[in-house]
Amino acid sequence: MKVEKEIEKAGFFQYYPVVPAVVVVKAGDELDALACAWYTALSFNPPLFAVAVAPKRYSYKLLRKGGEFTANFLTFDHVGIIATVGRTSGKKINKFSTYKIKTIPSTVIKTPVLRDAYAAYECKIVKQYKTGDHVLFVGEVKAVHYRGKSFDKKSKMPDLKSVTPALYLGADNYIAIKSFGQIRMGKEDITGKRTGRKEKGQKSE
Ligand SMILES: Cc1cc2nc3c(=O)[nH]c(=O)nc-3n(C[C@H](O)[C@H](O)[C@H](O)COP(=O)(O)O)c2cc1C
Repeated sequence: MKVEKEIEKAGFFQYYPVVPAVVVVKAGDELDALACAWYTALSFNPPLFAVAVAPKRYSYKLLRKGGEFTANFLTFDHVGIIATVGRTSGKKINKFSTYKIKTIPSTVIKTPVLRDAYAAYECKIVKQYKTGDHVLFVGEVKAVHYRGKSFDKKSKMPDLKSVTPALYLGADNYIAIKSFGQIRMGKEDITGKRTGRKEKGQKSE
């Protein structure tokens, strides 16, 4: 195992791949979006979802002004939207008209969600923390949008037989999971109380 004390030399991609969020922001008439790989869910009750955004981003100003955002998740078919909003700045262009990115209205907040998202959160910013060279915007989730067919009806988790999320590997590389093995490892499985049941999606050997 290599050990590196300087993150720039190691790169900060060891924990990737992640599904990047396209974070849409609105303040007054101004609309912008950026790609965010640095995000996290923080709480169930209240439901909190946070995104880390650098102050140099144009969208940062709109987050501060507008006080809300939507976090949108896209399939591999729409990887172009992530790459586009993640490598251009709203300071110079309107990304939505320039790249023909379609939105639909949110139900609680003013900031729209992406038409092509398979899931999205409507968030109202409740807290902000400066974390080094980024600011963590903590949003309270006011509504969840999701495509029914992309999620398992019972467990509510993504159904990878029906949805192929765009995953970010770092350094402008994206991947799709084309085949996968899936296993359930709940308490019953660990303690041996459930035996011999083949799980959904688990490949036969
Ligand atoms: C896949 C990907 C993930 C990114 N993740 C973040 C992030 O978590 N936080 C951040 O501040 N910038 C992130 N960026 C960079 C911004 O998306 C990028 O600087 C964008 O152009 C900012 O647009 P704006 O100037 O219109 O706000 C990411 C870029 C890409 C391509």
